[in-house]
Amino acid sequence: MKSTISVLKADIGSLAGHHMVHPDTIAVATKVLSEGKKQGIINDFYPTFVGDDMEFIISHNRGELDQKVHELVWNALKEAASKAKELGLYAAGQDLLSDSFSGNLKGMGPGIAEMEIEERPSEPFVVFMADKTEPGAFNLPLFKMFADPFNTAGLVIDPALHDGFKFEILDVYEGESITLNTPEESYDLLALIGTPDRYIIRRIYRKQDNMLAAVVTTERLNLIAGKYVGKDDPAMIVRVQHGLPALGETLEAFTVPYLVAGWMRGSHYGPLMPVSQKDARATRFDGPPRLVGLGFNLKNGRLVGPSDLFDDPAFDEVRRTANIIADYMRRHGPFMPHRLEPQVMEYTTLPKVMERLKGRFKKEEGTNKAKASIYTSSETNE
Ligand code: F6R
Ligand code: MG
Ligand code: MG
Repeated sequence: MKSTISVLKADIGSLAGHHMVHPDTIAVATKVLSEGKKQGIINDFYPTFVGDDMEFIISHNRGELDQKVHELVWNALKEAASKAKELGLYAAGQDLLSDSFSGNLKGMGPGIAEMEIEERPSEPFVVFMADKTEPGAFNLPLFKMFADPFNTAGLVIDPALHDGFKFEILDVYEGESITLNTPEESYDLLALIGTPDRYIIRRIYRKQDNMLAAVVTTERLNLIAGKYVGKDDPAMIVRVQHGLPALGETLEAFTVPYLVAGWMRGSHYGPLMPVSQKDARATRFDGPPRLVGLGFNLKNGRLVGPSDLFDDPAFDEVRRTANIIADYMRRHGPFMPHRLEPQVMEYTTLPKVMERLKGRFKKEEGTNKAKASIYTSSETNE
């Protein structure tokens, strides 16, 4: 029988700013999910959070985008949001963009990463969850895990990985997707995914047998709502071992606290810091952007685990480096490249400032308007 792993998440309100999920809201959501488990809608679940995002890791046999599973989670999130309102938590109900449930959670605000799989005799997998950043933040580590032999030794020395992987990329602006193969199309792949606010790795398959290996949440709150309503903090499921990257090869991809977009007001670049569950709170400058990794096994549709993977001194130096980078980036204050480019800022007063200053710009004689499109222009700066 096929099993489905679903990671469904939403920000339904948080304690003392956009900082951490309140345990009472998790408790009421847990009650709803427990009832669903009793009724046999789901087999198992693990509720958790990173920063202000409530996350449910669920196992069931109903496939992806299943109405019953999604409705159950919607009800759990609604109950949690009511509790958040009752407690006066900040931004209660923030990610629940609709009043009523219709079919599945797609387009309703919550992030969705689901994979329907044939369970292997042992089925180890990792759920990575980040706060104060966006789904494209996983582009870099996913490339490292599945396509970079300097990260993943298995790409060179394990025959099952040696053929490479297929990367499904979503262009969130055009609403199109493309699949590129590694290693042969690695440079084309990098040309796209190096623009992580637009081209997002959505799924990865093992080339030799099309085995689904990784799935990322790609809901874009800003595009769904027609306006920017918040950074869509991402989660992903990565299957590991036995012909896939080893657990340690997936974790190795996070040993550089690389810069991601998000952090304060969703408008700053900052280092992604891998932390334990107990440190999964957004504090300094509402961050720095944090990542939690939980390791599980799936057995007969039930979840075994988790192991809190970054709760480990082996990641102390990464965190120390992240703090040094955070200090360095913060010293730029409101200047780019700490502050994001205007098009992708979560908040911006720029149009208002421009409106106010409009009449005060004087035309410079002998100059022309520059072409502004950064994605379609074939002209280079010669
Ligand atoms: C970023 C985030 C926070 C808030 C910030 C201001 O995604 O959630 O950094 O943007 O705390 O929040 P408001 O405008 O709600 O006071
Ligand atoms: Mg938030
Ligand atoms: Mg968040």
